[in-house]
Order: sequence, then C-alpha cells, then structure tokens
Amino acid sequence: MTAKTIVVGNFKGGVGKTKVAVMASWELSRELNKKVLLIDMDPQANATTLIARSAGITEIKSSIFEGFEKGDLASTVMHVNDNLDLIPATVSFKNLPKFLYSKFQEDLDQVSYLNRLLEPLKENYDYILIDVPPTISDYSDNAMMAADYVLIILQAQELSLEGAETYISYLQFMIDEYEAYIQVAGVLPVLLRPGGRVDHATVERAKEMFGDDNVFENYVKHLERLKAWDITGITYKDHHDNRAHQVFVDVVQEMLDKIEKIEGGEEAGE
Ligand SMILES: Nc1ncnc2c1ncn2[C@@H]1O[C@H](COP(=O)(O)OP(=O)(O)OP(=O)(O)O)[C@@H](O)[C@H]1O
Ligand SMILES: [Mg+2]
Repeated sequence: MTAKTIVVGNFKGGVGKTKVAVMASWELSRELNKKVLLIDMDPQANATTLIARSAGITEIKSSIFEGFEKGDLASTVMHVNDNLDLIPATVSFKNLPKFLYSKFQEDLDQVSYLNRLLEPLKENYDYILIDVPPTISDYSDNAMMAADYVLIILQAQELSLEGAETYISYLQFMIDEYEAYIQVAGVLPVLLRPGGRVDHATVERAKEMFGDDNVFENYVKHLERLKAWDITGITYKDHHDNRAHQVFVDVVQEMLDKIEKIEGGEEAGE
C-alpha cells in the first residue's frame, strides 16, 4: 500500500475546504473501507475540532507542530476509528514559518519538509487528505509539495472562479519553481449559501478552464445539517444526517473514479 495524497484547495476563506476534507476522509474510511489519514495543516485547527467532536476525543496529546520539530510525524498520529487516523493541529502550529526558516536555508527544503516527513507513513494508508488554510503560505506550499492530487473547490454560486483560478496559477508556479508533482483530481462545485442553486455559467466557465472531464458531476449542496455538525459533531440519527452523508459518499466515489482514470491514462501512455 502506498497512499495517494490529496490536498483540498482554494485560496479563498470559508468556501467549504475543511468540511470537504473532513467529510471525504470520513466517508472514505467508513463507507468505502479505505485506510485514511487526515492531516490538519491549518493552525485554526477546524478539521481537528470537527473530528474530535465527532469521535468524542477530548484531549490532544501531541500535535503536528511537535512532529515537525522532532522530524517525525508518527508519534502525532491519533486513531479516530478503525480506518481513520488524524494528525491534529493546535494553535502552536502558527510558529511553523519561523521554525522552517531557522531550520532550513534553502527554499526547496522549507517547502518540502512535510513531503519528507510523510514518506514513512505512506505505507500505512490508502489515502492521505490534507486540509490547508486559505492563504499562500508555508502551510499550503508544503501541502502542494507533498500531494499527488489536488481537489479544487469551486464556489458554484459565485459569478467568478476567483479562489479556484488563483489556486491553479499558483500551482503552476510551484511546478515551475520547485518541480512539484501534483495533478488536478477534479474541481468540485460547492454551494455555501442557503437556498442557492448552481450557477450554470460559472460551472460552464470552470469546464472551459479546467476541462469538461475535470469538473465533478456531483456537487456539495448547502445543507443546514452540515453546518450543524460543527457544533454537534458528525451524527447518524435521522434522514437529514443520511442525506448529508450521501452527498460525500457520492463525491468520494467520483473522486476515486477520476483518479483511476488519470492513472489508467498515464499507464496507457507509457
Ligand atoms: N455544504 C455546506 N452546507 C452548509 N454549510 C456549510 C457547507 N460547507 C461548509 N459549511 C459551513 O460553512 C462554514 C465554512 O466552511 P469551512 O470551514 O469548511 O470552509 P473553509 O474553506 O475551510 O474556511 P477557511 O478558509 O476559514 O479554512 C462553516 O461554518 C461550515 O460548517
Ligand atoms: Mg478551513
């Protein structure tokens, strides 16, 4: 087993990145029976909070920043359930930039540190998902260098592709500058405002920009239940819960199909 590593990206705040990263990890592990590691690369630690609430975790003994300091992430891995592990973040992670600059002189070493630390963990998982903050920063640079794929969030109610476009142009910069080896797994439309519908013009523009096949057929609807889980943790108690889970089961199925297609195409081309 060598994990495929996926970062959930968009350089805009509050577009649903964390919700998608957590729920994709959750359904991959529970419903698709994959071994999954979720890495919280955001010092705001929203993914950590949501997982902790959902799994009844009350204490975080060791967080990602300690793993970075020690040069070993294994001791920071927390078991959430049989198939899902989490590397949690805490606010101490805000010191990552200072730490990287004092430890490494070379830019390339600074941005590649997560990739180096993840290498020995990859044999334990089918998938590693990374949640990042909405900034161009050491956090997102390290995630891009460590990831095989990016799942790009598209705000499908907006008239612009702003956060997704910036993400793609920055990805190209990272490929040119540091030879990042990362591919687009797909562009996932997300509806963040209530009562909203998909703006078809935006989705069409996304298809022109990213290619028809790259834009997901499934999209993440706005569901009050998904928001409520921030407070209650992820639950399974009624049909609203079932509906919210099904959204992400469909999304992860499509994501795996897309990745398989990309890898099938690569083999055929070899
Ligand atoms: N599909 C959805 N339906 C309803 N609410 C949602 C949905 N997705 C996310 N939310 C809510 O929207 C808010 C922002 O979502 P989230 O934290 O996932 O965004 P983010 O892109 O990770 O934000 P940040 O840039 O701050 O990291 C949260 O309160 C979350 O619960
Ligand atoms: Mg977030």
